[in-house]
Amino acid sequence: MHASLGMSTSSRSSLPYPLLLTTLALVLLCSQLTIAKEQYHEFVVKEATVTRLCGAQRIMTVNGEFPGPTVEVAEGDALIVRVVNRGSYNVTVHWHGVRQMRTGWADGPEFVTQCPIRPGNSYAYRFTVAGQEGTLWWHAHSSWLRATVHGALLIRPRAGVPYPFNGGEPPAREIPIIIGEWWNMNPIDVVRTATRTGAAPNISDALTVNGQPGDLYKCSSNGTTTFAVKSGETNLLRFINAALNTELFVSLAGHTMTVVGADASYTKPYATSVLMIAPGQTTDVLVTFDQAPGRYYLAARAYASAQGVPFDNTTTTAIFDYGTAATTSPAMPTLPAYNDTATATSFTTSLRGLRKAELPTRVDESLFFTVGVGLFNCSSGQTCGGPNNTRFAASINNVSFVLPSTTSILQAHYSGGGVASAPGVFTADFPANPPVQFDYTAQNVSRALWQPVPGTKVYRLKYGAAVQLVLQGTNVFAAENHPIHLHGYDFYILAEGFGNFDATTDTAKFNLDDPPMRNTVGVPVNGWAVIRFVADNPGVWLMHCHLDVHITWGLAMAFLVEDGVGELESLDAPPSDLPLC
Ligand code: C2O
Repeated sequence: MHASLGMSTSSRSSLPYPLLLTTLALVLLCSQLTIAKEQYHEFVVKEATVTRLCGAQRIMTVNGEFPGPTVEVAEGDALIVRVVNRGSYNVTVHWHGVRQMRTGWADGPEFVTQCPIRPGNSYAYRFTVAGQEGTLWWHAHSSWLRATVHGALLIRPRAGVPYPFNGGEPPAREIPIIIGEWWNMNPIDVVRTATRTGAAPNISDALTVNGQPGDLYKCSSNGTTTFAVKSGETNLLRFINAALNTELFVSLAGHTMTVVGADASYTKPYATSVLMIAPGQTTDVLVTFDQAPGRYYLAARAYASAQGVPFDNTTTTAIFDYGTAATTSPAMPTLPAYNDTATATSFTTSLRGLRKAELPTRVDESLFFTVGVGLFNCSSGQTCGGPNNTRFAASINNVSFVLPSTTSILQAHYSGGGVASAPGVFTADFPANPPVQFDYTAQNVSRALWQPVPGTKVYRLKYGAAVQLVLQGTNVFAAENHPIHLHGYDFYILAEGFGNFDATTDTAKFNLDDPPMRNTVGVPVNGWAVIRFVADNPGVWLMHCHLDVHITWGLAMAFLVEDGVGELESLDAPPSDLPLC
């Protein structure tokens, strides 16, 4: 091939041979750079021993690492990640925020898109990361394994495409910062105990930065995460909230953070001293290290919006170090009060999409979903450790989601709609509106409205439908900010507010120009958020509160998006190694 090209070219050109070779090499290099790559990774899920808060503990990990390996791709790359389960629990891995166009089989939530990978078995997740740049992450989507089975997924622009900030140049350093939550008990035992008793699970013992609690906890100073920085450099900090149940305020002493992206969508630059990141969300910020050389704490602690609900009130820290061998202790940032809803709100509502939104002007499906916590009355033979002899429950439109156990919803759908071929797996009657309309955010919601109904229901969407969804928080049991995450999609957040959503007055508040695009929206405590997306990805897509305690209680539902008729509008066939139940 080289020879024939060389000969035919040299026969009609007078380029000297070395120059010709250089030109050829350049052409080949350029074509390689524009062709997306395929990456192969092996994730072995297995136990490892780590020491935290003065004690040794066996935890589940990927490849023995905690947090797990960072996956780095360029936009457009294809990934094959073979997950080998050498642990003792069923496991699946979810690629949080990846759109998974037509590859729902690789999305990961157990019993929604696949049966879990049983101990001793493996499954290869095959998908492409396209049309998204920034920071996403991966985590186990099986029970509470994600407490320790998680890691970062960094998506850089493909070769030749500039960054939309920092003059188009890659930042000097990129620092993934994963904030997690640590229990001195096995987190699987924590959730199993709660499920048995019906009571709330134990709160965590620590928050962590890249797996380490930091200086403010006992026995933790030696391990404190330290980031080396260089005076004058601008770095990209890629924050991920991987905590199970804690929304976070994050601040860096002495330095302004400029937000440039969230959930792998770019934002207009927004300078701030504090971030609020809910579980599931990511935030990319630029920081210029232009302060007096020294050491500066990064600190994170809870934004706890629910009144009277116990939460982990500890503070995790890491150190940014200019490398000057400073002897004084690092400067500490001021964090907002735990219940500072005003600061949380002003942060989230300040984010704007970088570019003008490509919003459909029509709305084909106008949905209104209530989200909240409730209680099941005790039935005979049950343990009822919840308030006043109840069991905790949570719901969307009063349906408390129950996972199937014999197959996944996606498999049941693919094999013929789930009714004839897999009877009883799910029903397609998830309500578009709450079954009862009431004053959702009233001081005293009637106890008669605290009882959700268990069910495995999906909401069916036609391919290409433009969907508008009002997420309405309720004051049932306790109002709280719920980080609602939709699988398989990014959505625009048109508006958010407090109280009950009122279409006649609140529609005027919609930002149809540059709304932020995300995969997880914090629905304000005793308030609402309106999102919009086009159902262009066929499959079954879970939507749930990313507080694991709430998903455990049923704060979830799924959209079933039908195939379209055109090319590339149908769900792919299932891979041959899809796990069996
Ligand atoms: Cu990050 Cu269904 O989850």
